[in-house]
Amino acid sequence: MIVESSPAEVRRIVRAARQRGLIVGCVPTMGALHQGHVSLIESARTDCDFVAVTLFVNPTQFGPNEDFSRYPRTLDADLEMCRTAGADLVFTPPVSSMYSESAQTTVRVTKLAEFLEGAHRPGHFDGVSTVVTKLFNITEPDRAYFGQKDFQQQLIIRQMVTDLNQPVEIVTCPIVREADGLAMSSRNRYLSSAERSHALQLSQALKLAENLAVDSALMPPEIAQAMKDHLNSAGGIDVQYAVIVDSATLQPLAERSDSAVALIAAKVGATRLIDNQILRFR
Ligand code: PAJ
Repeated sequence: MIVESSPAEVRRIVRAARQRGLIVGCVPTMGALHQGHVSLIESARTDCDFVAVTLFVNPTQFGPNEDFSRYPRTLDADLEMCRTAGADLVFTPPVSSMYSESAQTTVRVTKLAEFLEGAHRPGHFDGVSTVVTKLFNITEPDRAYFGQKDFQQQLIIRQMVTDLNQPVEIVTCPIVREADGLAMSSRNRYLSSAERSHALQLSQALKLAENLAVDSALMPPEIAQAMKDHLNSAGGIDVQYAVIVDSATLQPLAERSDSAVALIAAKVGATRLIDNQILRFR
C-alpha cells in the first residue's frame, strides 16, 4: 500500500494504474476510520482493480463554531485499517497542498444543499462539493464510494457529478451500525457513556418510523411527528430535525410514497449526530 501526500504524485500513480487498464475506485474520507468507512473500502475493493482512499480533514466544510480543530486524527490506526481492507493507495494531503491562499473557486450545488444539513450548517456543502471535486480531479477515479449515512451528501455529490459532467460513477453504500443500532460515526467517540445511551434514541426513532410505515395507515407527517415525540420524550436530545422527505428531492412528503426517507439530526450534549432510514410503505 502506497501512502502519499503529494497531489501531483498521486495523480501520476493513479494515471499509471489506469494506463495498465485498471478500474480505479476512490473512497473520500476525513479519517478517524471505523467499520462504516471500511465497508466503503471493501466495496471498492470488490468492484475495482485499484483502490485509492483519501484521508483529509477538510477545513472548508466546518463552520466557525464547529469541531475542525478537535476532529479526531488517528493516522496510524487509519492506515492499518486501509491496509487490512485492501487499499492500494492512501492520499494524505496537508491542508496547504489542497488550498492555496489565493484560491478563489467554490463548487456549489444549489437547491439540494439549501435545506436540512445545509440550513443548519451554512457553507458546509460548498466545502464538501469543492473538496470532492478536487479529490476527483487528483485521483481521476472511475467510481467513487459514499455512505448512505450522509444521505443528503451523497445526493448532492450525484447532482454535482451530473451537472458538471464529472466522469465518475457514484456508488452509495448502506449504513453500518453498532450492534445496538447506533450508526457508526467518527463523532461517536465524543460521546460520554450517558450521551451514548441517549444517542441510541436516533436509530430507535427511525425504527419506529420504519414500523409505522409498514404496520399503520399513518401519513408521513404523522410518522415524522411520532419520531419527534419519541426523541423529545427520551430526554438528553436536542432535535434539529426529524422529517420524512422524498429521497430524490428531499422535499417533505404529505402522502405515502415509494421513495421516502426519514432523516434525523440532533445534538446529544455538544455532539451533533445524523442518521436516516429509507422507508417502505406497505
Ligand atoms: P467522513 O465523515 O469521514 O465519511 C466518509 C464516508 O464514509 C462518507 O461517504 C460517509 O457517508 C461514509 N460513512 C460514514 N459513516 C458511515 C456508516 N456508519 N456507514 C456507512 N458509511 C459511512 O463524509 C465525509 O467524511 C466528508 O464530507 C467527505 C465526503 C470525505 C468530504 O470531505
